[in-house]
Amino acid sequence: MPTHPLIESFARAGQGQVFAFFDGLDAAAQARLLAQAGEIDLVELARLNRSLLAAGTAGPDLAGLTPAPFEARPENGGDPAAWAAARATGEAALRAGRVAAFTVAGGQGTRLGFDGPKGSFPVTPVRRKTLFQVFAEKLLAAGRRFGRPVPWFIMTSHANHGATGAFFAEHGWFGLEAGQVHFFRQGRMPAVDFTGRILLEAPDTIALSPDGHGGSLRALERSGALDVMQRGGVDTLTYFQVDNPLVRCVDPEFIGWHLRRGAEMSAKMVPKSGPDEKLGHFCAQAGRPVVIEYSDLPAATQHEVDPKTGRLRFLAGSIGLHIFDTGFIRRLAGGEGGRALPFHRADKKIATIDAAGRPVRPDRPNGVKFELFVFDALPFARHPVIIETNRADDFSPVKNAAGPDSPATCRADQLRQSVRWLRAAGVAVAADPSGLPPFAVEFSPLWADDAEGFAAAWARLAVKPAVQDGLYLE
Ligand code: UTP
Repeated sequence: MPTHPLIESFARAGQGQVFAFFDGLDAAAQARLLAQAGEIDLVELARLNRSLLAAGTAGPDLAGLTPAPFEARPENGGDPAAWAAARATGEAALRAGRVAAFTVAGGQGTRLGFDGPKGSFPVTPVRRKTLFQVFAEKLLAAGRRFGRPVPWFIMTSHANHGATGAFFAEHGWFGLEAGQVHFFRQGRMPAVDFTGRILLEAPDTIALSPDGHGGSLRALERSGALDVMQRGGVDTLTYFQVDNPLVRCVDPEFIGWHLRRGAEMSAKMVPKSGPDEKLGHFCAQAGRPVVIEYSDLPAATQHEVDPKTGRLRFLAGSIGLHIFDTGFIRRLAGGEGGRALPFHRADKKIATIDAAGRPVRPDRPNGVKFELFVFDALPFARHPVIIETNRADDFSPVKNAAGPDSPATCRADQLRQSVRWLRAAGVAVAADPSGLPPFAVEFSPLWADDAEGFAAAWARLAVKPAVQDGLYLE
């Protein structure tokens, strides 16, 4: 007979199977299982089972979608004065210490298949620096430039939290100040079978997985990270994903657009490279921006061409770069005014056990995971702004082990950036028509973190080094 209140509430909710093996477990395993069960919000889960598991559950509402407006870059017709003003505002906010960086690093990285936190994956062409080191050096460079260290918040998962902290400690926090880097864990959600019953991974372990990058907003609140920001005078959070070493972690223009508009949340877009590129689309619906995933927007819509411009009608692709007002995150996390991010359903192969407790390794999806997406916050934000960015200087993610968005494509994009910077500084370098050089070079973000900075640093060199395979400047 169930004796623990948690066991009773699971039984009442029709989830008694979670404790099917409880009596046979030792005390430590029982405590572990109870602690995991305690993380689960049974009311929320019942609601998700009703809304997302029912047969024929509809996808997102696509009624009345139009392309979302965005601010074009000055070289693409945007107003140069507005961009210059944004830059000045962003720089002032950085000098005032109002801005923190935020990396979501709680994903499982299954496509890359790397053993360890994804941030510890080596990506740079010469020194093989890891993703975390690249971001750390960019943040160090920004701190030096603006005279204020940029606080860095990193969201981990239960699976990689310990290893992530240990990685930073092992590397002396990559030269960042003690207390500048803050780690916190995101929440987890249980996986369920297709009837909504919570799955066990082992007799003493519930099948729990991270609650999606959208879980970052409630985790920022629950973990106390927002309080730390508030005490430090930070009201603006610049968000990027752990897989993108090309990112401008701290971009004064982006920060400035966000602040000048009084935005609660902002986003960067890139023009899609073609109709089939797998990026979410910035759309507008009832006067608000929404992001519609590529898998949800009908192919015919993705192929529509704007007769006026000859470009794709739904051109604006989302690349996971955002800025948040911290007060907005707090209100959203608190669910004020019924505002809450929707969960999405993903059918997955979930390692589980059978009724006898034997492992089951399915070869087709046997259950459902629930995830929150960060871009779903956009329609709740007041005065949101979407700005265009130059993909080559902001986005080249490492998602897959091979093929598109892999270590190889990311390395090539880093090399192309180095070639552009060298050429802009007046150095003649060989490269193929795509801009890829026949050698590997690398510049530390501490030496230069944009084309202008590179040209200035290069000009200062009394003796210019030969641009050859293995050149590294720091
Ligand atoms: P992805 O959507 O690429 O997912 O995450 P992933 O889990 O890293 O990789 P796959 O799909 O298993 O191959 C985009 C960003 O969101 C973070 C990731 O760490 C990455 O920075 N993320 C994703 C989280 O922080 N938590 C999550 O629950 C999911």
